[in-house]
Amino acid sequence: MTKSIGKLYGIGLGSGDPELLTLKALRLLQSAPVVAYPVSDGGKSLSRSIVAGYLRAEQVEVPLWYPFKLNQSSQPFYDKAAETISAHLEAGQDVVVLCEGDPFFYGTFMYLYTRLCDRYPTEVVPGVSCVMAHAAVLGTPLTYRNDVFMVLPAILPAEVLAERLAVADAAVILKLGHHFSKVYEVLQKLGLAERANYIERATMPNQRIVPISEVDPKTVPYFALISIPSQWQPTD
Ligand SMILES: C[S@@+](CC[C@H](N)C(=O)[O-])C[C@H]1O[C@@H](n2cnc3c(N)ncnc32)[C@H](O)[C@@H]1O
Repeated sequence: MTKSIGKLYGIGLGSGDPELLTLKALRLLQSAPVVAYPVSDGGKSLSRSIVAGYLRAEQVEVPLWYPFKLNQSSQPFYDKAAETISAHLEAGQDVVVLCEGDPFFYGTFMYLYTRLCDRYPTEVVPGVSCVMAHAAVLGTPLTYRNDVFMVLPAILPAEVLAERLAVADAAVILKLGHHFSKVYEVLQKLGLAERANYIERATMPNQRIVPISEVDPKTVPYFALISIPSQWQPTD
């Protein structure tokens, strides 16, 4: 008799509001015997908190301890997390892995996917990324017609950010944290600061929208972004 193995699901949760889950993600989440999610050093799981109201008591929860420290390779931790998930899959249990936003857009699930997708049946369910969600919250259309849209991690050097922003019609800058001041300076030099929006934890209960000129660089969290919407005018 052949041994049955479980199926792996990477599900996008959307950017924070539990109502942004897709129907498919919700169905899979509630029917899975095992639910795994990243947990930070402090023991908190943003992903779990998003779906806490949907979990069932009989589901097995598997916290995956990820390092969120700078200057530390995260690869050994993904190796270990993949092993943990693999044990459940080998036992014939389906495993749902939670991922904030969209799993294939800078999502933590990608690193498990690359380790496990050749060995186990795997399905990825897309989620509402912060890029889409924050624009809806701000009521600011991002791109029109043939606009070129760019996604930039704030960690890039100032000159690279400037080069890329100079050729984009619209852009979003992610992973702000302590890179805020550098990014803001670049925006000011390019004359983009007045057009830029700043938002923390979009769609989460502690969402915060602040005029970019009033942001205190010391308090910018990791879950914050800057967007520069298109300048297109309805008369164009
Ligand atoms: C590793 S990326 C994850 C992106 C996520 N997979 C998605 O699809 O939105 C993390 C960065 O996305 C941005 N981000 C994610 N969720 C956010 C939210 N709710 N509000 C503001 N920024 C967010 C922040 O810039 C953060 O540093």
